[in-house]
Amino acid sequence: MLYPFTPSTERHLTIDMDTTDLARYLNTPMAIGGKTIHGRMVLAPMAGIGHVAFRELVAEQGGCALLFTGMCSAKAVPHENPAQSMVFRWRPRELPFTVCQIFGSEPGEMALAARRIENEGFFGVDLNFGCSVAAICKKGCGAALLKAPDHAARIVAAVRKAVQIPVFVKFRTGWSDDPPYAADMARRFESAGADALTFHPRVAPDRRNRPPKLDIITRVNQAVTIPVFGNGNLFTIKDGIRMLSQTGCQGLSLGRMAVARPWIFARWTGTAQVDETIYHSTARRLLERLDHHYPSPFNLKLFKKFAPYFCANFKFSLFLLKQLNQAKTMDEMAQAIDQLFIPCPETLSVPNQNLFV
Ligand SMILES: Cc1cc2nc3c(=O)[nH]c(=O)nc-3n(C[C@H](O)[C@H](O)[C@H](O)COP(=O)(O)O)c2cc1C
Repeated sequence: MLYPFTPSTERHLTIDMDTTDLARYLNTPMAIGGKTIHGRMVLAPMAGIGHVAFRELVAEQGGCALLFTGMCSAKAVPHENPAQSMVFRWRPRELPFTVCQIFGSEPGEMALAARRIENEGFFGVDLNFGCSVAAICKKGCGAALLKAPDHAARIVAAVRKAVQIPVFVKFRTGWSDDPPYAADMARRFESAGADALTFHPRVAPDRRNRPPKLDIITRVNQAVTIPVFGNGNLFTIKDGIRMLSQTGCQGLSLGRMAVARPWIFARWTGTAQVDETIYHSTARRLLERLDHHYPSPFNLKLFKKFAPYFCANFKFSLFLLKQLNQAKTMDEMAQAIDQLFIPCPETLSVPNQNLFV
């Protein structure tokens, strides 16, 4: 049995993995802070998509080791009413395996938000040091913090001091392609008390359009002793094997591919087989769960955010997306899904990247 690292203290790159080895590895438990998770694949945080309805869908389709929420404002979290908030909302059953992500720029605010997250019973809290959207960076949050390493470390330390639950940091290479800088940030976060890192090896101005650089994940992973989840363009099982074996990272964080195929965790861990009916049933189930969790017309808006990733699965993705986008009500969307996805249209082995914005 080959693992990409020996679970003790060493971080080697072993490897000759096949899909069975991958599944076995991905089902291996891992310690994070004082807690244990049952596997190595996690749902990446995605604002507007990783909401309670989508997380419920993922959990129903086999789930993964940890679900991350989309980013929540640290300023707002201490006062949020989950019954009214569109983002700070959860199902009690998911709390033991859900991590709430926050963004902010003030150590005190981040610590207060983390305390609320701990009191609500989440598995952990994740600090967003990676978002490069201008509106977030302008306020000194997200990836802007990678320009202020001391301040970023102060935030981690303040959160660490405020809570007992695992503290995660999600970050990217920085603002220029400088692997030693990324490794140094990783070290600072560990020293400040982070229990795990998710690393997306792209520079901030890149957004998601250029291929991630795996060698920088290797550098980050070798700089720390805490678990590192590798993230970025994990589309096929081969991508997963390549990332684990080339970088030695301990886990995989999947974003867009999990939106296109929420059953992907079950497929890669070898816990479920699916047939083509899954596409129709997935779209219908998400629509139904959105209707359950959110008011109209917000629920329809959320479905339309999911639709491009879902339609990317099919040969005539743009046509299908256009049809779905014409729906003006949840009922019209339900009818469109039935008409378009029964029988299942021709699928692509790898989704149409043009819709993976
Ligand atoms: C629609 C969307 C929303 C995202 N929102 C967040 C977010 O709230 N916090 C965060 O840290 N990253 C966010 N990301 C980035 C993802 O977590 C991930 O790093 C990125 O999509 C690359 O991984 P992938 O190639 O598996 O999608 C978002 C990505 C997408 C596509």
